[in-house]
Amino acid sequence: MNNVEDRLPKHVAIIMDGNGRWAQKRGYQRSMGHLEGSKTLEKLGIYILKKGIDVLSVFAFSTENFKRSKEEVDYLMNLFIEMFTKKFKKLQKEGIKVVFSGRRKPLRDDVLKAMDEMEEKTKNNTKGILNICLNYGGQEELIDASCKIAEDYKNGKLDLVSLNKESFSKYLYRDLPPIDLLIRTSGELRISNFMLYQMAYSEMVFTDVYFPDFKEKEFDAALEEYYKRNRRFGGN
Ligand code: FPP
Repeated sequence: MNNVEDRLPKHVAIIMDGNGRWAQKRGYQRSMGHLEGSKTLEKLGIYILKKGIDVLSVFAFSTENFKRSKEEVDYLMNLFIEMFTKKFKKLQKEGIKVVFSGRRKPLRDDVLKAMDEMEEKTKNNTKGILNICLNYGGQEELIDASCKIAEDYKNGKLDLVSLNKESFSKYLYRDLPPIDLLIRTSGELRISNFMLYQMAYSEMVFTDVYFPDFKEKEFDAALEEYYKRNRRFGGN
C-alpha cells in the first residue's frame, strides 16, 4: 500500500451547492447563503491547497445561472468583485495562483476587471492553483475548444494526427490535470454540466451537507472516502 502522500489527489473539484437552502432553512435571504459560502470557500481553499493538492476547481457560477432573478445574479456578481478585490488577499499571501475558467461574455466589465487583476496578481504563485469556474459550462468548454481546434487546423497550425488527450487538453479553458476527486454538496446527485472532459475517471463523493457548512472536517471525510476507492481506470 502506498503512503497517503503518494495517493493524495492532484486535482479536486467541488460543486458548491446548497447555499440557497442553507439560508432558507435559517429564515434568511438566499444571498446570505452565498455570503456564507464565500467565507467557507476562502478558508477551505487554503486548507485544501496547503495539504499539497495541486489544483482545486470550484463551480462558482454556471452559464445557466444567468436564468436566476436579476437580484440574485447582481448579488453574486458584486460578491465576486468584493471577494476578488478584498477578501482573497489571504490567498495571495499563501502563494496560491488563481485562474478562471468560463466564457467572458456576458459578464460585466467590472467583474472581468476584478478577475483579470486577481489572475495578474497571483500569476507567479506556486503553492497550488485555485481554478474558479465562473460563467462556466462543460459543454460550452468543449464547443469552444472545438472552435479553437478548427481555427488552428484552418491556419495550418495543427496537424490532426497529433491530436490526443494531452494536446486536446491544451484547447480547454485551462490545461489542468484530470480531476481525481469530485465533491458535490447538498444531496443532489448530478454533474450539472461541470468539467465534463476533466472528470472522465474522477471518483465522486456526494454529501448532504450544504456548502456553507462544508468545512475542513467534512473535506477530510470526503478524502477518507476517496482513499477507500479502488481506482482501476478501465483496467481490472
Ligand atoms: C449553488 O447554491 C451555489 C452557487 C450558484 C454560487 C456559488 C457561489 C459561492 C460559494 C460564493 C462564493 C464564490 C466565489 C468564487 C467568491 P444554490 O444557490 O444553487 O443553492 P440551492 O440549490 O440551495 O438553491
